Amino acid sequence: MLTQDFIMLEEKYGAHNYHPLPVVLAKGEGVYLWDVEGKKYFDFLSAYSAVNQGHCHPKIVDAMTEQAKTLTLTSRAFFNNCLGPYEKFITEFFGYEKILPMNSGAEADETALKLCRRWAYDKKGIAENEAKIIVCEGNFHGRTITVISMSNDPDSYKGFGPYTPGFIKIPYNDLNALSKALEDPDVAGFLVEPIQGEAGVVVPEEGYLSKAYAMCKSKNVLFIADEVQTGLARTGKMLACDHEGIKPDILILGKALSGGTMPISAVLADDDVMLVIKPGEHGSTFGGNPLASKVAVAALQVLRDEKLSENADRLGKIFRAEVSKIKSDMIELVRGKGLLNAIVIKPKNGKEAWDVCLRMKENGLLAKPTHGHIIRFAPPLVITEEQVLEAVKIIEKSILEISAS
Ligand SMILES: Cc1ncc(COP(=O)(O)O)c(C=O)c1O
Repeated sequence: MLTQDFIMLEEKYGAHNYHPLPVVLAKGEGVYLWDVEGKKYFDFLSAYSAVNQGHCHPKIVDAMTEQAKTLTLTSRAFFNNCLGPYEKFITEFFGYEKILPMNSGAEADETALKLCRRWAYDKKGIAENEAKIIVCEGNFHGRTITVISMSNDPDSYKGFGPYTPGFIKIPYNDLNALSKALEDPDVAGFLVEPIQGEAGVVVPEEGYLSKAYAMCKSKNVLFIADEVQTGLARTGKMLACDHEGIKPDILILGKALSGGTMPISAVLADDDVMLVIKPGEHGSTFGGNPLASKVAVAALQVLRDEKLSENADRLGKIFRAEVSKIKSDMIELVRGKGLLNAIVIKPKNGKEAWDVCLRMKENGLLAKPTHGHIIRFAPPLVITEEQVLEAVKIIEKSILEISAS
């Protein structure tokens, strides 16, 4: 079967909830992907930053296959011999007292919201059902009903009401708005992405996170960081919050926690917050399964052993500097941190970010537009300087070809 045959199968039998680039991928290794016809591409999406360690990283795949032959799932009805060691490893790794393991990013966000609400009633003394959580406009935390209730993007929320109440929406990167919202004594938490990934790699001003953190502390409000996309070395530090030296009260991780091999997410917090949830009040059949436990440990070890934060920091600077040299009036702005970057595209002669992505695909590099006019560039963090320079040449060639067409 060829590309078109696979696309037709998905069109006919799959829900139409995505609009993929017309490429059918069959193999991945490191920073590269191959399609069904054998054409090779640079992957500059990394499955939305789930594949930070590179495709099919041998150490992660070995941990996975070894455990898959032994024991994969017992449910949390029983103990297993992988979860405890994983919990010890990850809590020490990030400096928290407890972890609550889940699967998808959205589930981990939901878990954090439940923890925050229960903490509001049990610890802060907010009257039952009155707790509010501050969220930011432009956020993306996933696709569940409660999570889309926090969104101000009509593509995410429109037509799916009624919505979950209890959220105060404020502009991102706006400390005055945060200060005003924090005056409400029923506020229990502030949920924020350290950099807004899906919004188009929106980087807040330096000092925003640390000041927001201090403001939350002064009002006894939990600072909750969604690092599902920004965490795990992507932005040049193990966590994006590390850039400002803050430790969130609740930390949400996902995506690269498995190196892209299976859905693994986690919520980390200290006892004061985590122990408000009691047996039977939250869980998931697959959360904390033996397979995931082994995979997550291997995925974190790879990030640390291969110094992927340092690589992301160094090569991110080179990437932005090189892309900024491209002379094209289609490039409005280049922004980002580490290897989470974006180019804002100015349409020309009816050609948009989508056309640039199609041309990059033809030239051997895969990336995807977000919000129509922004292209995110987030390669696996195992990329080398030579590969970054080669990739920038493809980006330049593609933009110049589209500009001229
Ligand atoms: C910041 C953030 N939070 C949560 C999610 C949702 O993760 P998942 O798709 O695994 O539910 C995403 C996905 O892109 C994300 O970027």
